[in-house]
Amino acid sequence: MERIRVQVPATSANCGPGFDCLGLALNLYNIFTFEAEPKSNRFTYTFTGFGADLLEKEDPKTNLIGIAMEQVFAKAQEPIQYGHITSDTLIPPSRGLGSSSTAIVGGLLLANELISKPLTKEELLVIANRMEGHPDNVAPAIYGNLCCATGLKDRVLNTVIPVPETLHFAVVVPEVLVSTEYARSVLPNHVPFKEAVQNVSHASLFVTSLITKQLNNLTVALEDNLHVPYRKTLIPHCDEVFTVAKEKGAYGATISGSGSTLIAYADKAHVEAVAAAMGQVFTDHGIANKTYTLEADTVGASRV
Ligand code: HSE
Repeated sequence: MERIRVQVPATSANCGPGFDCLGLALNLYNIFTFEAEPKSNRFTYTFTGFGADLLEKEDPKTNLIGIAMEQVFAKAQEPIQYGHITSDTLIPPSRGLGSSSTAIVGGLLLANELISKPLTKEELLVIANRMEGHPDNVAPAIYGNLCCATGLKDRVLNTVIPVPETLHFAVVVPEVLVSTEYARSVLPNHVPFKEAVQNVSHASLFVTSLITKQLNNLTVALEDNLHVPYRKTLIPHCDEVFTVAKEKGAYGATISGSGSTLIAYADKAHVEAVAAAMGQVFTDHGIANKTYTLEADTVGASRV
């Protein structure tokens, strides 16, 4: 029986000022495998990696991988092919690194390999955006690189921008759980006009600085007024981590997605020291954490 295996990258949404529209893919992956069981009438699962014990206890009918697969079969108007799914979670879940988006995109890609006329990436993105609610994790999970995505009623406009190879990422994942739902509930209904204007300016500067490789601009371009000031109260010692990241040579740092992961943008020469210093802040305060030094993923979800 054919075995299909796909990998889907972690993603860091918002990129500072690009709330709900900018996201970049990182070279850390969740792996999903499908083995068809033609006589079965449901998806069954094996989980390994982060959170496997919790996932095993959940109702398989609610698993995003199988739900995403069903959406693809429905869109293609083909019968559902059931089977056994293995999910190997290497991306820390519920920490602002797009782990749930990988489950959606993984399911979409698995089913897309099974149908007779595969859907385009654009079509997969529409389904993923409908399931996820905002496109800034699912777009880079599908396309890799930096994505600028705008969800419209029935489609998603998305542009893909290469991330300069010299740009690296120091990532610290503290043992602090912040649900996206809660992290959205602390956001204000209104922000001062001047602050909104500054966000437009910073988001534009962020994107164009990556295009023109003017990475020193990131120190200013990563600054945000829409979510970081409100969310950093949910992540202990957030400001201290941002400060040490810059002291160790990062261009700047921000919250990854809705947190609690913090991400610093740095060059290759500094990234290791930046990551170590960021982790040390949490360690010094007795908070367990895991650090990564990552690069951009340039391919997006793919069969492996
Ligand atoms: N843009 C979303 C948010 C991403 O920050 O709430 C959630 O991962």
